[in-house]
Amino acid sequence: MKENTCDLQPDRPLPPCTIVIFGGSGDLTQRKLIPALFALFQQDRLPKHFAVVGCGRTELDDTSYRSRLGKHYRHEGPKLSAWNRFSKQLHYQKITYDEKSFSQLGDVLRNLDQRNKTRGNRLFDLAVPPRLYPVIARLLGKAGLANEHENNNGWSRIVVEKPFGHDLDSALQLDKILHAYFQEQQIYRIDHYLAKETVQNLLIFRFANTIFEPVWNRHYIEYVGITAAEKLGVENRADYYDGSGVLRDMFQNHMMQLLVLTAMEPPSQLNPDAVHDEKVKVIRSLRDFDMQQGSRIYLGQYGPGAIDGENVPGYRQEQGIPKNSTTPSFAMMELFVDNWRWQDVPFFLVSGKRLPRKETRIVIQFKDVPHRLFQGMFGDNINANRLIIETFPEEAIKLKFQTKSPGTTTCLRSMTMDFTYQEHFRNMPLDAYARVLLDCMNGDHMLFWRQDGIEASWNFLTPVLKECEQQCGCDQQLHAYPSGTWGPDIIQDTLKKILHN
Ligand SMILES: NC(=O)c1ccc[n+]([C@@H]2O[C@H](COP(=O)([O-])OP(=O)(O)OC[C@H]3O[C@@H](n4cnc5c(N)ncnc54)[C@H](OP(=O)(O)O)[C@@H]3O)[C@@H](O)[C@H]2O)c1
Repeated sequence: MKENTCDLQPDRPLPPCTIVIFGGSGDLTQRKLIPALFALFQQDRLPKHFAVVGCGRTELDDTSYRSRLGKHYRHEGPKLSAWNRFSKQLHYQKITYDEKSFSQLGDVLRNLDQRNKTRGNRLFDLAVPPRLYPVIARLLGKAGLANEHENNNGWSRIVVEKPFGHDLDSALQLDKILHAYFQEQQIYRIDHYLAKETVQNLLIFRFANTIFEPVWNRHYIEYVGITAAEKLGVENRADYYDGSGVLRDMFQNHMMQLLVLTAMEPPSQLNPDAVHDEKVKVIRSLRDFDMQQGSRIYLGQYGPGAIDGENVPGYRQEQGIPKNSTTPSFAMMELFVDNWRWQDVPFFLVSGKRLPRKETRIVIQFKDVPHRLFQGMFGDNINANRLIIETFPEEAIKLKFQTKSPGTTTCLRSMTMDFTYQEHFRNMPLDAYARVLLDCMNGDHMLFWRQDGIEASWNFLTPVLKECEQQCGCDQQLHAYPSGTWGPDIIQDTLKKILHN
């Protein structure tokens, strides 16, 4: 029997290209994008001919930019030598957000194309605050940099980070501006959660095995719990976070994607459009959220507390957060997918900041056995099967089931059969940002949002946000929880089911 079946299309050589990062002086660039590109370079997975151009208002030149981004590698011998080779391809271009500056950027890029043989292929990554997305799209368009295959251009792709708008109207507005200059196939809307190995494995797990799909429905599943818990608070993103809160920051994108991958029907083909079509159907099948009709959401905000034995401030004491802020940093939402497969199966979505540990997982809780053969011996204490798909702290899949303990007396014991990526695969999975950048260079849309998915997601969430904004004004409905605990007291019973076993 074959143990290992690989994609029949091996890694194609990547086309040469220049990666242009707007917000080149920022946090995302420093913490994620440059390390991801550097990791790809070290694994020999970047195109043979490439250049990276960081852009921003900050006064920097190539030398100071390289030394700013490379400071972490200064003391690491082998990495330093790789960094020195990589950073020769790293440039900085000071810009202001006006037409003159973008026309100069165009000249710089054309010059780099000549020097680096990058053939006019460009990836524009928008690592800037979201209000700049439309500005940059428009300026790129006006400078002719969005046009493909003319004026020395090769392909031109634009990469947009979440959040994709603030609500449905702003998402539509953003899309209109992007589409005024770029075609849909030129736009890459990143959700780096989708590039995690276990998240991608969900499709393989469900649709490349026979044994799970027949029980993947309302007849066998009691509920689904999806958790994305964070230990961190707002850190240095107070301004952004206070205007967004947990629903916009996590639910509109990451949580929705995890729900969709769990609930979607098998696509007829493995191509981006067929997969996106199935995903959108799930979002459109979500039961309208109506608190009068029993829909449930619980919101919370962290107060002072302790994480790993260290005292941490509450949300309202964080630098940059107004003292009377009513932005939720925690939410638990119960959703229903109204279709043949999932009717009346609750999906509990939980996400929050300053929880005891960072943890991302999907719990599939199966129903009790239909006939309780062992009830006389063990009463009701027989745990039903549970499948846990974990992306953090481990990338793992765990199945809990009952066994008999050895011996003359009959004792049941819950056991876990598990598979962890770290244990079974020597090559560690690619970092999520490295994977998405690679796919952008390859022109592969599979791991990105399509606009109709974003619209469907906002369409569902915008009334929820309106309801919550009203609730949050009222302290009784914005539940405080001490940092380092698992959210508000009022929902501990439900949370216990999803989180702790
Ligand atoms: N940081 C993360 O971990 C993370 C994670 C997921 C998504 N994102 C998204 O990625 C994007 C970038 O995040 P970030 O944390 O790197 O942002 P950031 O550090 O706040 O900003 C990035 C850069 O944008 C420029 N900038 C900031 N405000 C500006 C303004 N008003 N006008 C013009 N330029 C401005 C600054 O460069 P100059 O001053 O040099 O122009 C800054 O260095 C955001 O959309 C964020 O939501 C970030």
